[in-house]
Amino acid sequence: AGTYAVTGAASGIGQATAELLRAHGHTVIGVDLHTTGHPDSEVIADLATAEGRSAAAAQVLDRAGGDLDGAVLAAGVGPVGGGGHPRLIAEVNYCGAVELLEQWRPALAAGRPGKAVVVSSNSTTTTPLVPARSVRALLAGDVEKSLRATRLFGPGRPAIVYAASKIALSRWVRRTAVLPLWAGEGIRLNAVAPGAVLTPLLQQQLDNPLEGKAVRKFPIPVGGFGEPGALARWACFMLTDAADFQCGSIVFVDGGTDALIRPDEW
Ligand code: NAI
Repeated sequence: AGTYAVTGAASGIGQATAELLRAHGHTVIGVDLHTTGHPDSEVIADLATAEGRSAAAAQVLDRAGGDLDGAVLAAGVGPVGGGGHPRLIAEVNYCGAVELLEQWRPALAAGRPGKAVVVSSNSTTTTPLVPARSVRALLAGDVEKSLRATRLFGPGRPAIVYAASKIALSRWVRRTAVLPLWAGEGIRLNAVAPGAVLTPLLQQQLDNPLEGKAVRKFPIPVGGFGEPGALARWACFMLTDAADFQCGSIVFVDGGTDALIRPDEW
């Protein structure tokens, strides 16, 4: 049995992943803004602030004794979450994954090298007009500049910021996974890119007049929404030896939306 850190462990995909890891006998340190229901094995922190992120990262390392077998970065804010505030979306979705993983890298490398799974999104390939500047600025660590590049988008702005945050996150995964300090140290870093999965995040979107209409119009070839438990099984699989040869991959689990929208982009 191993020790795993799971962010966003209080709800949806993160919660389902934490429960599945526990069911397999592992120790899970859950990180969330809210309690995960496992008070003796959780870190309550706000990943929207730099202080919250470093406190969360440090407390997890402390609880794990400096040796992590894996991490799943599932904390995220949807386009209508937190009132659709663009800064919150960018900080939690991008910085909330990248800064934690950077601090956890030595613990992932320690002992038997660990694996990390980042939760991206199929919004990365299905959202039109995401400004390249906004993505580049996030990768350069400049949240302000990234947000400025999206300021003219009107009511659709949170969806653009959401997609930009997930594109930057996916690109960071691909750039970082292959580095000597990561792949070379035996760490495996990959991402899963879900489509519409029925969680409180998606429900919030469905309940919003503008976003709800867009979500319902979004074609899903297999019909219907995905289940958080199915995404959890993917994430857990990507933490096993099966992923020893997987490095910097973005695995789409989205009911076919990405394939439908851009079939010939390979
Ligand atoms: P959810 O809303 O059920 O769970 C997200 C969790 O993140 C919550 O427990 C929340 O408290 C936590 N969180 C949010 N802001 C936080 C903050 N500032 N500090 C600490 N924790 C915070 O959402 P869901 O659907 O399970 O989302 C998980 C991941 O999957 C997210 O990264 C989301 O962007 C991604 N995703 C979800 C899709 C969907 O349709 N549900 C589609 C594609 C990606």
